Formats: sequence, structure tokens, C-alpha cells
Amino acid sequence: MTTIPEQGKVYIRTFGCQMNVYDSEKIYAFLQDRYLPAATEEEADLILLNTCSIRDKAEQKVYSLLGRLRGLKNTKPELLIGVGGCVAQQEGERILRRSSLVDLVFGTNNIDKLPEIIDERVTTGRKVCRVEEDMDSVPSAAAPLSRSGNDPTSLLTIMKGCDNFCAYCVVPLVRGREVSRAMSEILDEARYLVGNGVREITLLGQNVNSYHDPETGAGFIQLLEKVDGMASLERLRFVTSHPKDFSGELVEAMAGLKSVSEHIHLPVQAGSDRVLKAMGRGYSRDEYREKVALLRDRVPDVEITTDIIVGFPGEEREDFEQTLSLLEEIRYQNAFSFRFSPRPGTAAAEMDDPVPDDTKRPWLPELQEVQNTITAQKHAALVGEVVEVFVEGFGRRDNGKLEGRTRNNYIVHFTGDSGLVGRSLNTRVVRSHKIHLEGVIVT
Ligand code: 5AD
Ligand code: SF4
Repeated sequence: MTTIPEQGKVYIRTFGCQMNVYDSEKIYAFLQDRYLPAATEEEADLILLNTCSIRDKAEQKVYSLLGRLRGLKNTKPELLIGVGGCVAQQEGERILRRSSLVDLVFGTNNIDKLPEIIDERVTTGRKVCRVEEDMDSVPSAAAPLSRSGNDPTSLLTIMKGCDNFCAYCVVPLVRGREVSRAMSEILDEARYLVGNGVREITLLGQNVNSYHDPETGAGFIQLLEKVDGMASLERLRFVTSHPKDFSGELVEAMAGLKSVSEHIHLPVQAGSDRVLKAMGRGYSRDEYREKVALLRDRVPDVEITTDIIVGFPGEEREDFEQTLSLLEEIRYQNAFSFRFSPRPGTAAAEMDDPVPDDTKRPWLPELQEVQNTITAQKHAALVGEVVEVFVEGFGRRDNGKLEGRTRNNYIVHFTGDSGLVGRSLNTRVVRSHKIHLEGVIVT
């Protein structure tokens, strides 16, 4: 029979959005009394898959991944394997039935119960599935404050769930309705982070603009002002802003608050009014353009990134061309683009689509080509310039190079020592690449 090791090691594989990245951090914190983070799956006593179901065949991906863990479980029978996150929330018990490897399944609202769930698995010898129906609590609020590394940057969830029900999106079904955390708790967490060396905080929510403190009713701008006022916090970022709730007031906050970075992720999803309407996005192409114009007027250096869905049901070539022309007009720093994927339970999954797949298939690469050219032009324009970067750590791509980010979200790689991590410094851009810039430190 499995026993819980005195001090075991846990490995978490995280898929999907930053919300999951944050949840994984919290899982480490909830388990810290018994499990230290493992460097590899091989040395772990507990492997958790924090899954994502926003696009593609997420369930299949999970099962094929589980298949790959079979060898490990065979050589180490006491290894525990758990599946959490959005696929677990949707699939529940079905996961236990389909994969004999899985010991525990936990929902997005049960991460605080993980120590109990593991105990139950070990003491009863039975597999456990705990997927909470009650979506109104905010479990991350109760997580012990802790940090698993020395990153000078940190995510901080301010709300969860979403009330928008965009026709294609599974988030409201999986993560539940929108619930904001108390501002007092968010500020406690921010103070803890800053007190422990964090210099850049990214506030997280599906739609941060509709944040409101359940205790006082204070809104997102007030939250930004409070966090911005914290001494020794250098940069404050936030994702995601829904264009329909993106306000002139937020533009002024971005223009006026010293730590708020000049970057915004403003997912447009489509450039055609017809498609935007079918998606239920709540804004038109022109309303979106006007908001961008106001932002660029008040925050001149601002860079904008976006998300785009290509091939929504009923989308015709001329709709798609409207998206292309919007990309050309706005000139995003970067666009994350996806082929439409019908998600079970969403309105779009039921929509008829008279436009054949073969017609739509080439659109995504076509759009990506347009965006890559724009991104490349923006990168090339920075060669020779001196830019200030906040040093985040050693990058994954260039072995041995430090990675930093400009206030407006350009990634710069350069040579330097670890003592520079967590500091801001000037670099001269010497070369441009597809995803990042290469720089040298200017003394
Ligand atoms: N199909 C394709 N893309 C999707 N996204 C969300 N749901 C779907 C879907 N069903 C994209 C949106 C969103 C991003 C996080 O994922 O562009 O902004
Ligand atoms: Fe999904 Fe729309 Fe909510 Fe974003 S705003 S999480 S796309 S439903």
C-alpha cells in the first residue's frame, strides 16, 4: 500500500493560461508541508497535471500524456498521479474510469483540499475524485502565502471565472461565474510578494476591468492605485482586459500610475462586425478602434497584443479579410491566433457552419504571416536603440543569457551575471529575432 512520504517531492505539469500557472504555484504552497518541488518527473512521488480545456482536443492530450507516464508508474508503484484543472473540472470521474494510472482527480475549486484528497487516497486505498460544484468560493484566497522560487516577477489572481459567455468560450462553464477577491487580501498578498523580493506583479483575471471589491465595492482602478503605491514595486501589469469594459479611466490610470507598464493585452478575436456579433463580444470594430486610438494618444509608447480566432462558424472570406485589415491598421506587437475549436457546452459548438473546412484551413497561416511581418518590422525598428529592461532571469532559449522585458513588453536577451536579476538596466539592441531582441548592456 502507498504511504505518504515524510517529505516527498511533487512535480506539476501546467497547461494553458496564466491562471493555471498561478494555480500551480498555489498547489505547491498548499502541499509545501509534505512535498517539495521536484526538478523532474522521474524524481517525483506525486505528479499532478494541471490541465486546460480552452481549445483543441484537450482530453485526448491528457490521456496520451498519461500513457507516457505508465513506464514511470510501473517502475515506481508508490508514485501518485493526479489530474486537476479545467479538463478535470469537466470530465470528473470519467478520467478515473478511462485511465487506471490516475489516483486522484481534483477540480479547479478544490486545490486547497489537495492534502486531504491525497490522505484519502493513501488511507483508503481508493481512487478519489473531488470536483466541487460550488463555484462561488475563491479558494486561492485561502492559500498560504509562499514562493517556490526567487523570481523577481509574480502573478497575483484578483478574480476568477467569467460572466461574459462569449459564444465560443468554455471558461464560464469550467471556471464558473465571475467572483472577485477581497481587495484587502489581494493587497496583503501583494505586500507579502514585494516584501519577499518581487519587483513586478501581474494581476490576473479573465476580465480585470470588471473587478470590484466584494467588501467595499471599490473597482479595478482603485486596486491599481493601491498596488502602484507600494514602495519598491517597479512594474505592475494586468491581464486580461475585455475591450468592452476597457475605459477612459483605465487609460488615464495607465498614463498616470508610475509602475503600470505601457502594455495591454486586448483580445479583439475578430475584425468583422458580423463575426463579433455572432461571438457575443459586445463591441464593434469601430468601438475597438476608438479605444485603441484614445490609448495611443494618452500613452504614446504603449504596445498592444491581442488574441484572434480564425474560422468562427459562418465566417466568410470577407470577414476574415476584415481581421487582416485590422491587424494591418492596429499593428499589434504580437497576436496569439487560433483556429476555432468547438467546445462542448458552448453556443458556438451548436452553430451551423456553411463555410467548408478546406476554405478556412489556409486562413490561420495567412494571418500569422501578416502578423509575423508586423512583429519583425517592429523588432527591426528597435535595432540601435537603447531600451530599459527589467531583468527577469536566465532565459530558456539562449543558454546562459539573461532575459529582460521593456516596460512595453519587448523581450531582450543579453549577457550578464545573476546579480542583475530583479534590476532595471539599459541595453542597446544589436539584433532582432522573431520572438526576442538581442542586446548589450550599456554602462
Ligand atoms: N476556439 C479557438 N480559440 C479559442 N479561444 C478561446 N476559446 C476558443 C475556442 N473555442 C482563444 C481566444 C481567447 C484565448 C485565450 O483562446 O482567442 O482569447
Ligand atoms: Fe471566455 Fe469571453 Fe469570458 Fe474571455 S470574456 S473568458 S473569451 S467568455
